[in-house]
Amino acid sequence: MITLSLAEIAEVVGGRMHDIPDASAQVTGPVVRDSREAGPGSLFVAFVGERVDGHDFAAAVVESGAVAVLGSRPVGVPAIVVDDVQAALGALARHVVHRLGTTLVALTGSAGKTSTKDLIAQVLRRKAPTVFTPGSLNNEIGLPLTALTATEETRFLVLEMGARGIGHIRYLCELTPPKVGLVLNVGSAHIGEFGGREQIAQAKGELVEALPPAEEGGTAILNADDTLVRAMASRTKAKVLLFGESDEADVRAENVRLTDTGQPSFRLHTPSGASDVTMRLYGEHHVSNALAAAAVAHELGMSADEIATALSEAGSLSRWRMEVTERPDGVTVVNDAYNANPESMKAALRALVAMGKGRRTWAVLGKMAELGDEALAEHDAVGRLAVRLNVSKLVAVGGREAQWLQLGAYNEGSWGEESVHVSDAQAAVDLLRSELRPGDVVLVKASRSVGLESVATALLETGTEGEVAAR
Ligand SMILES: Nc1ncnc2c1ncn2[C@@H]1O[C@H](COP(=O)(O)OP(=O)(O)OP(=O)(O)O)[C@@H](O)[C@H]1O
Ligand SMILES: [Mg+2]
Repeated sequence: MITLSLAEIAEVVGGRMHDIPDASAQVTGPVVRDSREAGPGSLFVAFVGERVDGHDFAAAVVESGAVAVLGSRPVGVPAIVVDDVQAALGALARHVVHRLGTTLVALTGSAGKTSTKDLIAQVLRRKAPTVFTPGSLNNEIGLPLTALTATEETRFLVLEMGARGIGHIRYLCELTPPKVGLVLNVGSAHIGEFGGREQIAQAKGELVEALPPAEEGGTAILNADDTLVRAMASRTKAKVLLFGESDEADVRAENVRLTDTGQPSFRLHTPSGASDVTMRLYGEHHVSNALAAAAVAHELGMSADEIATALSEAGSLSRWRMEVTERPDGVTVVNDAYNANPESMKAALRALVAMGKGRRTWAVLGKMAELGDEALAEHDAVGRLAVRLNVSKLVAVGGREAQWLQLGAYNEGSWGEESVHVSDAQAAVDLLRSELRPGDVVLVKASRSVGLESVATALLETGTEGEVAAR
């Protein structure tokens, strides 16, 4: 963060100073909400949660060197007290971002935000110092906390924005107003909460509405292959740059194919040239993510060659997204258990099949959450796709949704033991341990709440006796 005195911070957030002997004391950062991260120069933000009250840690954080607490009541140690801590944190982020004048890139979409954000960061940081959202901290608290890690050196600030409803992205854009706004796709993630795809498009499109006009450098980067995203061009005054496989796209991929190891390779075209890319990441869905990242990098002045090199070298920065591990016995475990929705299930199954050429493939799949009325049809469709793609073995794990998945496979023509339903992760592990053979490829994937990464972890443990860790 930039250095700010407590008096300045109190003014920015409209707070009252309590127990502060010296209002000129400097906060040098970081701004933290986890008391364990508080150290010299930091500002501790105290939230009152359901189980934990951050104010209880006030004395401890000051003991570890924190300059003050930003909270909703006096705590007996230096504190700036406000009525609404979240709003105050947002105001502070807004102030700092404005003062820094870094180029702010924000992205949203139904699937692939974190993967794409990590790609953008790995490309942009070759050009200039870049700060980006760690993991998936994309909400009204994670976003300002990330923005506040930017320093005077930071040239690019890349922020993932998540939305669970109308108005969420608009709010996030008020805290950290982007200059470049990227919308990846409108899929079915959280469709139950939103009420439909049109509503999701409405909510995600708030990002391009918030951009400055083209004359002031605003750029909306939109997926030309996604009709609902493409249509957002009419909702912005910013310049529009399109990416995708469509001929219309300014940033395009040609000759897209998956290598035998399941890694995408293609020729990247940007308005400034063309160059070949072979990715280290797995799965064809990363082509779209890579093009999105390329469009951002092109807009920020990078050449096609620079971008292609960076994309070819980029690795996975966030865990459990198509994380590929080879076991000593030749079994390949693909852990994509971070999350699942219909689009990412399909992408992962295709990647599994590409990686598994000539080998036995296993799809260990669980429920996709929050699909509302579409849940039955979508689970059925995934089960059917597994059969159509010729996945050797489908193991559906869990309750009702897993049964729908297995039934979809059965109805599509899987027979005998080709598709099975098991009740929980431990049963899946037991089955896999007795049946896996050297050379098999196993994909593990479900929504976050299912916790299927425990299956991947158990399969990677040495020995065969470990139990699935309780969650
Ligand atoms: N372009 C894409 N299309 C479909 N699926 C994708 C795409 N990019 C990534 N995925 C898959 O979607 C899942 C979630 O990826 P990622 O974490 O990047 O998305 P996210 O949008 O950040 O999710 P969240 O909403 O949980 O933050 C992973 O299984 C990943 O492999
Ligand atoms: Mg994410």
